[in-house]
Amino acid sequence: MRTDFVRALERAANLEELSRDELAVLISADEEESAALFDCADMMRSRFMGDEVHLRGIIEFSNICSSNCYYCGLRKGNTALKRYRMSKAEILESARKAAVLGCRTIVLQSGEDRSYPAGLLAEIVAEIKSELDVAITLSVGERPREDYALWREAGADRYLLKHETCDGKLFSELRPGTVLEERLQRLAWLRELGYQVGSGNMVGLPGQTVETLAGDIVLMREMEVEMAGIGPFVPNRQTPLGSCPGGTLELTLKTLAAARLALPRTHLPATTATATIDALGRVKALRCGANVIMPNMTPLKYRASYSIYPGKTGLEDTPEESYAKAVRMVESAGRKVGTGYGHSLRHLEKK
Ligand code: 5AD
Ligand code: SF4
Repeated sequence: MRTDFVRALERAANLEELSRDELAVLISADEEESAALFDCADMMRSRFMGDEVHLRGIIEFSNICSSNCYYCGLRKGNTALKRYRMSKAEILESARKAAVLGCRTIVLQSGEDRSYPAGLLAEIVAEIKSELDVAITLSVGERPREDYALWREAGADRYLLKHETCDGKLFSELRPGTVLEERLQRLAWLRELGYQVGSGNMVGLPGQTVETLAGDIVLMREMEVEMAGIGPFVPNRQTPLGSCPGGTLELTLKTLAAARLALPRTHLPATTATATIDALGRVKALRCGANVIMPNMTPLKYRASYSIYPGKTGLEDTPEESYAKAVRMVESAGRKVGTGYGHSLRHLEKK
């Protein structure tokens, strides 16, 4: 093993703050070093987050998107995609089902459906909160501050807005018409409004380096995010990046493990994208620092249309099957299903 790798890993195990260069050294681990990195991340996960894996039921309620990100199948330029918006009644029904199955968090996610009425989403949030004993995460992209405030007042607990990449130039190239600073500004607003904030990035984007990935982790540490969604870039033929190579499982797991070392108290999901590139991807991620799984609660008839990337796992699974599969993954990793809301640890400390 390289001496700088061993030194960085030791410093991480002693909870010392790693530099961006040290994180890059960890992420560039070879096979032998990776095994040590994964063990250390698993130990850190066990020490700070325990053995519980939180299951957050995700409802993909609209695939309409006004943005044109180069990597994503929901981009407005993808005219081949059949668009849908679930009705309020359908969303509430899916939320009830998720809660009955045992989800203590409901994630409401959509494309950047900017004409979706903010008031309607606020009503849905308020009704779910009054009827069901669940936390709510929203993930509906860039919206005006007033909308975020309205939804927070309606009872939303958390907001997920991935920064996608810390490289500002790459960000603007891949997300035409948008800039990283504005996205970070939005994350700051969400924080001010009292949300638990989630960010995250893709691994293996064209033009990205190991240093970029280390920078993603440093950025999330600076923002003190409560959740960090890290998953591989999966090329989608219906997008401009369709013929680029995708992110590998190895690089994704190394980035995830390095993130666990730098963000010991942050919730790290074993992402669906990880499952898409490897059948055992999520179980492997649970052994490299992850402590969250997001079973899909979207009604089957809409599943295939939420096609961010191809080969998305679980397209034929009913919500019941998605939940049961998640439970099996938790068990096969030797862990247990979380019984609480899975709020951020910092949030619980404040109470
Ligand atoms: N591969 C992997 N993840 C993707 N996302 C979008 N397109 C892709 C892709 N091709 C992720 C982004 C975004 C979320 C909606 O999905 O991180 O935040
Ligand atoms: Fe729309 Fe989000 Fe996909 Fe970009 S990543 S095209 S904003 S759904």
